[in-house]
Amino acid sequence: MNTTLALPHLDSATLSSLYGRSLLLTRDWNSCEIDALLAVASRFEAAVRAGHSTALLPDELAYAMFFDNSTRTKSAWAGAASRLGMRPVIVDGNSTQVEHGETAEETGAMLGMNSHALGVRHDLILGEGNRFMRAVEKGIREYLEAMTDTRKVPVVNLQCDIDHPTQTLADLLWLREYFPDGLKGKRIAVSWAYSPSYAKPLSVPQGLAMLLTRSGADVVLAHPPGYQLMDDTLATARQHANASGGSFSMTESMDEAFAGADAVYPKSWGPYDLMLERVAANAARDKQRMGDIERAALARNAAHTDWICDERRMGLTKNGKALYLHCLPADIGAEVSAGVMEQHRVNVAREANKKLYVIMALLAVAKVPDLGARLAEVTR
Ligand code: CP
Repeated sequence: MNTTLALPHLDSATLSSLYGRSLLLTRDWNSCEIDALLAVASRFEAAVRAGHSTALLPDELAYAMFFDNSTRTKSAWAGAASRLGMRPVIVDGNSTQVEHGETAEETGAMLGMNSHALGVRHDLILGEGNRFMRAVEKGIREYLEAMTDTRKVPVVNLQCDIDHPTQTLADLLWLREYFPDGLKGKRIAVSWAYSPSYAKPLSVPQGLAMLLTRSGADVVLAHPPGYQLMDDTLATARQHANASGGSFSMTESMDEAFAGADAVYPKSWGPYDLMLERVAANAARDKQRMGDIERAALARNAAHTDWICDERRMGLTKNGKALYLHCLPADIGAEVSAGVMEQHRVNVAREANKKLYVIMALLAVAKVPDLGARLAEVTR
């Protein structure tokens, strides 16, 4: 396949508007900006697959702090930074002085003076993660302004309490590749699924609801009673669906969501009231209460073990052949049957791999002046 023929157009005016920009929520960017970013990601994917060097940012430091576990996003950050010629450094956020009370602004200023990009994952406590990232970004910006330092040091949200932008953008890139005629009119089921492992953040389903509705798709959100998402993210999903000519609907039946679906994204998240209770317990550093809340969340999940993506449910989808998506890791035997996962093993790996190119694009649009011309050189 001649991949150069399929490369999307680069909108240089929109790319210029992204120079210096952080990505803290996808809803902060307009649809043209999202399209421009994904066009850059596709260019990087083609260049990397063709074996071209993409070292547009040599000798710069790409620092990332993770306040929660990660396999894929850490690896994608390191891989993206390395392919751009940057030096990736990943630290455990809980080993920084934030744990000892250093403010997010101070942390941003201290990291911003030495690094050239900053990734942050802070996703476990509602109301905290995105606020932390915005404060870090402010600390960096104010430091750079005070020092008349012209470096661009973008902050990249590597998952917060509201959104998981590098994941959902990777999902969108994969969906666009899988459905080359576009997502308009495609029915996409984003469903809660049973998990016995831990009370997972709300950010993936919220991010999907906010982003996929921009493509004219018919997005259906399904969950059992008590597993609602943050109101403002649902309001954004409705606004985006209205603007794109798609739709956003909700149901408490996984079967109903799967019926006739072109794509399904079944994954777990924690009960809303208990996720809210975690806020106060965490603020009080009450580890026993945090443990009690986690056990209560898993007990609540256990009342819904029938919310599994299995062969019967996949049979309800369009022609029984919907695309299965998951951000991974999936609880096999709980969120998804072993058979469905095996059937889509390569598809979910392709989906996961898109995050590498999304992060390359986020770093490059923010940091490389005249990116269109530079990309033309490396994709020639
Ligand atoms: N999907 C995802 O973000 O994976 P990690 O938690 O392993 O980074």
